[in-house]
Amino acid sequence: MTFITIDGWQWIDYERLGSTNDEAKKLIEKHTPLVVTAKKQTSGRGRMGHKWIGLDGNLFMSLGVDWNSDNTNILALISSLALLLSVKSYAATLNPMLKWPNDILVNKRKISGILLEVASSSKVIIGIGVNIKASPELEKNSPYLSTSLKELGIDTDRLDFMRTYLHIFAETINLYHQARAQKIIDMWLSYAHKIGQEITVKGEKTQICGKFIGLDKQGMLLLKTPDNEIRTISAGDIYF
Ligand code: BTN
Repeated sequence: MTFITIDGWQWIDYERLGSTNDEAKKLIEKHTPLVVTAKKQTSGRGRMGHKWIGLDGNLFMSLGVDWNSDNTNILALISSLALLLSVKSYAATLNPMLKWPNDILVNKRKISGILLEVASSSKVIIGIGVNIKASPELEKNSPYLSTSLKELGIDTDRLDFMRTYLHIFAETINLYHQARAQKIIDMWLSYAHKIGQEITVKGEKTQICGKFIGLDKQGMLLLKTPDNEIRTISAGDIYF
């Protein structure tokens, strides 16, 4: 097993894996900070039991980090904000938006997804899929279409994007340590899709409609329901 050190990360790139998150889970105890990538991913997993289709040329990457806090929602916001800033760094005109909890949309189409998984009490895996070369068809009931950097006229490759992301992720984590969570939340909200508008949040068995009014200090979604109740939501898929 050969790791390459890149900006302090222990990085390993595979030809083919089922899921980079699963491989990161095996390696995380001995190797942090860790980056696992694969050229081909055959059983990619998404949030809420969705599948993540592995088209050639796209980025399948899992970071393994030490995270000594119960609040993984903030880490999800840091990861997705860094992803948005990475996409934006390729073309200032792109105008990407964040869809809670951690999707990036460009022209209302999904370009990336994040699956955050807790590996142990102090270690977290941040699984990131970015459509670099190709846009997979999303599941039938998905409320939106997908896009890719290539479709948007950006010519890069998975490993160039990985380097960009690692750099911007480190900057965003530093910002969190210097300025604390509220700064991350404020920046995140400045790119939030549908803020102040009516949305539907679907859980595995629940569905709530209301106005998306912000995020609380833990990074949870605040929804004002038609009977003026404020609901705090920790997980779900947003529909609009
Ligand atoms: C989502 O939008 O539902 C999250 C998708 C996360 C996909 C990535 S690809 C790399 C990593 N390995 C996985 O199996 N899933 C994540």
